[in-house]
Amino acid sequence: MTDTTKSATITINNQQIDLPVHSPTAGPDVVDIGKLYAQGGVFTYDPGFTSTASCQSAITFIDGDKGELLHRGYPIDQLAEKSHYLEVCYLLMYGELPSANALEDFEARVTRHTMVHEQMHNFFRGFRRDAHPMATMVGVVGAMSAFYHDSTDINDPWQREVAAIRLIAKVPTIAAMAYKYSVGQPFVYPRNDLDYASNFLRMCFSVPAEEYEVNPILSRAMDRIFTLHADHEQNASTSTVRLASSSGANPFACVAAGIACLWGPAHGGANQACLEMLREIGTVDRIPEFIARAKDKNDPFRLMSFGHRVYKNFDPRAKVMKQSADEVLGLLGIEDNDTLKVAMELEKIALEDPYFVEKKLYPNVDFYSGIILDAMGFPTSMFTPIFALARTVGWVSQWKEQIADPALKIGRPRQLYTGETFRDYVDVENR
Ligand code: SDX
Repeated sequence: MTDTTKSATITINNQQIDLPVHSPTAGPDVVDIGKLYAQGGVFTYDPGFTSTASCQSAITFIDGDKGELLHRGYPIDQLAEKSHYLEVCYLLMYGELPSANALEDFEARVTRHTMVHEQMHNFFRGFRRDAHPMATMVGVVGAMSAFYHDSTDINDPWQREVAAIRLIAKVPTIAAMAYKYSVGQPFVYPRNDLDYASNFLRMCFSVPAEEYEVNPILSRAMDRIFTLHADHEQNASTSTVRLASSSGANPFACVAAGIACLWGPAHGGANQACLEMLREIGTVDRIPEFIARAKDKNDPFRLMSFGHRVYKNFDPRAKVMKQSADEVLGLLGIEDNDTLKVAMELEKIALEDPYFVEKKLYPNVDFYSGIILDAMGFPTSMFTPIFALARTVGWVSQWKEQIADPALKIGRPRQLYTGETFRDYVDVENR
């Protein structure tokens, strides 16, 4: 724990309680309420955890006001421009940028784990062809617990390391298999002579009937999308992974829980919902109708991929993603993209509209990613699986950090109870 020379005093029921205050290396101080219930007999109450730090971590720092995102201190825009996904994976996992030799060794280890047990192919056959790929991924990633017994003992540091590498290496293969299964095409095995992003594109888009050449522009854009989604502090799905792992559950089950949480449209499902929304809007002249709906308190409609719990000025990932979208569409010669026109006009209007300015609603990471993925040929149903694939390294890095903490306790929040107080049972004839 960091510096605790400061304290905060709370007066409750005429009793003064001093609580230690911890100062971080960056960001707000935190008031440690661990002893509050024992000393004061009260809980704190913070549904949605808007003011709650659930853990201490050294992996990712976000400043929502400055629009800053650092991975082990390195800003996301520099990593997106100068690094590549597997190097970012190494940085998130081990805390430092690797030497050339360490990077080569890490990439070789990941490459050698990209195949899945041949019997896992049978899992897919149990799903309907029109199953959402996220349903398939939740099931098959969870089923990894049934295949990789030699890396489920979380008390063995070596097994933890192997499980982390297996997850980073195999989730792209499983995501590609989920896609192939949904379109009725044969699974494509990974290739050891391809880089991570090229391998994924080939597993998704190659067919046995012809050779498949990876487009380096798409591969670079794919790799950048992975980097921009790699980790993001204690978001809902990462918090899910941490809570699941606090009970001692194996890493495959914990990551499957993270995938399930990411699926929601308020979280990772927003990229699919955003592109479907842009398509529903269809043309620029219909934007005002949807803006009005987003403001209407009686209408549950929200502008998907706008707003963020933490970013209150801009999402730094959205800036990089927008540059990438312009580059990819331009290089692919997709000029008159109606969806892009609607997206850019929607962004312009929303950034000038008092409602959105007052509520600090700006495009987040999901706003432009869907446009790139659509241009690459992915169906919208594959957008969130790609987010899950990229976020796997964030989940396993945070999981490793938590498991290694000797102070780890099972996560068990309390509640504000508003139900009936004690009452005796009433026989049915007396009701
Ligand atoms: C991700 O946490 C992370 O880091 C997540 C993520 C990651 O990398 O892990 O960044 C990935 O999940 C990005 C967010 C993707 N979700 C969406 O784009 C869905 C649309 N956005 C919203 O549902 C919403 O903005 C959230 C869920 C992202 C944030 O919700 P909050 O912080 O709980 O804010 P809120 O719902 O309380 O909204 C504050 C106000 C409300 O109005 P009032 O009740 O105060 O009058 O803003 C309004 C909301 O109605 N509002 C919106 C809006 N988002 C919030 N109004 C219209 N359109 C929207 N998109």
